[in-house]
Amino acid sequence: MKETITVIDNRTGKTYELPVTHGTIRAMDLRQIKSGDDDFGLMSYDPAFMNTASCTSRITYIDGDKGILRYRGYPIEQLAEKSTYLEVAYLILNGDLPNSAQLEEWESNVKLHTMVHENIKKFMEGFHYDAHPMGMFISTVAALSTYFSDAKRINDPLSRRAQIIRLVAKMPTIAAYTYRHSIGRPYAYPDNDLGYNANFLSMMFKMTEQKYHANPVLERALDVLFILHADHEQNCSANAMRSVGSSNSDPYSATAAAAAALYGPLHGGANEEVLRMLVQIGSKDKVPEFIKRVRAGETKLMGFGHRVYKNYDPRAKIIKQTADAVFEVTGKNPLLDLALELERIALEEDYFITRKLYPNVDFYSGLIYQALGIPTDMFPVMFAIPRTSGWLAQWEEMMTDPEKKIVRPRQVYLGAKQRDYVSLEKRK
Ligand code: ACO
Repeated sequence: MKETITVIDNRTGKTYELPVTHGTIRAMDLRQIKSGDDDFGLMSYDPAFMNTASCTSRITYIDGDKGILRYRGYPIEQLAEKSTYLEVAYLILNGDLPNSAQLEEWESNVKLHTMVHENIKKFMEGFHYDAHPMGMFISTVAALSTYFSDAKRINDPLSRRAQIIRLVAKMPTIAAYTYRHSIGRPYAYPDNDLGYNANFLSMMFKMTEQKYHANPVLERALDVLFILHADHEQNCSANAMRSVGSSNSDPYSATAAAAAALYGPLHGGANEEVLRMLVQIGSKDKVPEFIKRVRAGETKLMGFGHRVYKNYDPRAKIIKQTADAVFEVTGKNPLLDLALELERIALEEDYFITRKLYPNVDFYSGLIYQALGIPTDMFPVMFAIPRTSGWLAQWEEMMTDPEKKIVRPRQVYLGAKQRDYVSLEKRK
């Protein structure tokens, strides 16, 4: 079979043969198709990148129709059952699972960099008492770039590696500080005797005790959630990371941009919206009325639907199992029954079936976060902590891609043609 496609331009009658590689044509191959000598050449128009591959990648594979998610080839189900978040972060960033010496070195490097400069703490103290934690998080990550001037050396692989370790290590610290600030508790310093998640829980919830001991079931549940959220190929925030990083800005600034993209309720902010929606619905008997409003286009069922998954999101399945383990320790979240009823009714409804709308990762994650004692407005921050390793893996892949160029889309200009300036007194 010939791996080409033939295009006939009916405007000129000319025929073009374009190569097909990995199921795609190169948009630049369209440029040769011109209606006349002064024609710029054909472009493809794809608002919101519905059908455009913006890069090649070897990190995450998704088959949205089959509900498959793999990091570096490993099924998400196996990683969630057998791995840890830091091991998965290593895998995503380096391409292969670490051997024990590599894992030990990676974990101890991350531990070495959990602290933030005291001035970062002071910087965070400047936020208003009711500032949204995600706003604080985004700004603080951006502020980190001012502390590490070597981060500008983006073409130096050793410098890139150092910033990656720092970012992965400091995210839980910044996240926990946003929480402590919002409730007016003194910031708790990292405890490097503890693992990544146990240390995060300690920085969140430690009071006056010498050592904070997290419940191992809850610690593991958090690990699973972090694994599930680590990467998801070219989503809105990964695209922001690559786009901002493509101008050679430092990784702190690019990560802050990615976190800002994540914050939106259509992306990582959906977990927060799901909880607010469940509270607003209030009880199971109100579910049919709510679904009616969704059908009428008055509101969205948050935590449902996905650009790529047209089947059950495999992460949502795993989260449901994790929720059971958590609720055995914390007692059942009363909103769970409501969420289950919402899912049951939605999955029977024609509106959702015909549009292939299924629960996504955000539908159930908030119920677990809530059971862990994490307030609703912290949920997007909880997403950003583990997604940082994914963003950085996408950034590193882009930086070492021989095809890397500044991201700069084209537009279809539909505005006014050239016209002459009219002085103010002559304007109507
Ligand atoms: N509730 C009700 N209707 C929905 C929903 C929803 N959650 N999601 C999509 N639809 C409808 C749309 O209105 C549209 O209907 P139409 O064809 O009659 O116009 C159809 O389904 C297709 O939806 P699009 O918005 O075109 O799908 P798109 O791929 O652009 O959007 C998105 C995907 C943003 C995730 C969307 O499904 C949504 O808004 N979901 C709710 C927010 C959410 O849960 N976001 C988290 C996604 S996962 C993540 O980012 C981590």
